[in-house]
Amino acid sequence: MAAEKWVYMVTAQTPTNIAVIKYWGKRDEVRILPVNDSISVTLDPDHLCTVTTVAVSPAFDRDRMWLNGKEISLSGSRYQNCLREIRGRAGDVEDKEKGIRIEKKDWEKLHLHIASHNNFPTAAGLASSAAGFACLVFSLAKLMNVDEDSSHLSAIARQGSGSACRSLFGGFVKWTMGSKGDGSDSVAVQLADEKHWDDLVIIIAVVSSQQKETSSTSGMRESVETSLLLQHRAKEVVPKRIPQMEEAIKNRDFTSFAQLSCADSNQFHAVCLDTSPPIFYMNDTSHRIISLVEKWNRSEGTPQVAYTFDAGPNAVLISRNRKVAVQLLQGLLYYFPPKSDTDMRSYVVGDHSILKEA
Ligand code: DP6
Repeated sequence: MAAEKWVYMVTAQTPTNIAVIKYWGKRDEVRILPVNDSISVTLDPDHLCTVTTVAVSPAFDRDRMWLNGKEISLSGSRYQNCLREIRGRAGDVEDKEKGIRIEKKDWEKLHLHIASHNNFPTAAGLASSAAGFACLVFSLAKLMNVDEDSSHLSAIARQGSGSACRSLFGGFVKWTMGSKGDGSDSVAVQLADEKHWDDLVIIIAVVSSQQKETSSTSGMRESVETSLLLQHRAKEVVPKRIPQMEEAIKNRDFTSFAQLSCADSNQFHAVCLDTSPPIFYMNDTSHRIISLVEKWNRSEGTPQVAYTFDAGPNAVLISRNRKVAVQLLQGLLYYFPPKSDTDMRSYVVGDHSILKEA
């Protein structure tokens, strides 16, 4: 076959994840090593996900990438680190049907075209970079026949965006901060798979799909530089919360799960306020949603719904079961009737095969 004629490609779909014990702050900005462990839940990939197609051909003269149809630069160190790490682990590939054979050594010379699409607002505090880098690393690993397990791949995705390492697994996932300088032990591990606690229903109340003013990356850098509360959180609070959250997940103990999730989200936003200059990710609607959930949980005697907010105003609401989720949706629609910029969408956790090859 004429060398220029072939294109070999792989498409993958990866969900985003929502932290219930948050990652906020790096001890190494280049390798993306965090100041504390974190725990997240991976969402159903059919709702909030990134779909990425990676292609290789001798006809391509340079690496190129398109995000949601628009070409973006791959020159940044995060992309370059992921591409270098994956290329360094590439294996031989053979597609007999198409008559394609790529040897390990060829990957250094061949160029890639990457097309990625998010089915949810990019950079609006819905962890788009998590799904994006996890999907990039996963699809490239498939394309290049990389023989590494998900934890090893998570250490590569981490170098694209910290939270991305947790999207390599479904269910409940812990990102261990690690202690080695090279970051080789700063990896994600699955705590429980997606079937373990499939009563839970996650509703995301999209309060605003506008891009956030302060990115997570610069926000956490400013917090590390200026917030004393962040030091206390990383050293004293999170190390105690992590085993408590692991226990709550293991025992499907919703009361502890909800108390820990809400407290951790509130402390993360308190750290943002403690940063100089202060960072405001939540808005009035976010605060009203918190009040609604707190009042409801108090009136029921035990928590029915947990809330958590990432670096944006959108609420992630985790209901203990479907019945509660239906009541919650009714309450949200009553108190926050959808306007043009307010949209309520529901996402169900459970029954998800996480990393799909399309
Ligand atoms: C609030 O992973 O987006 O969502 O590592 O700089 O790319 P970088 O940051 P990113 O930060 C996520 C912060 C968070 C909490 C979390 O997901 O744990």
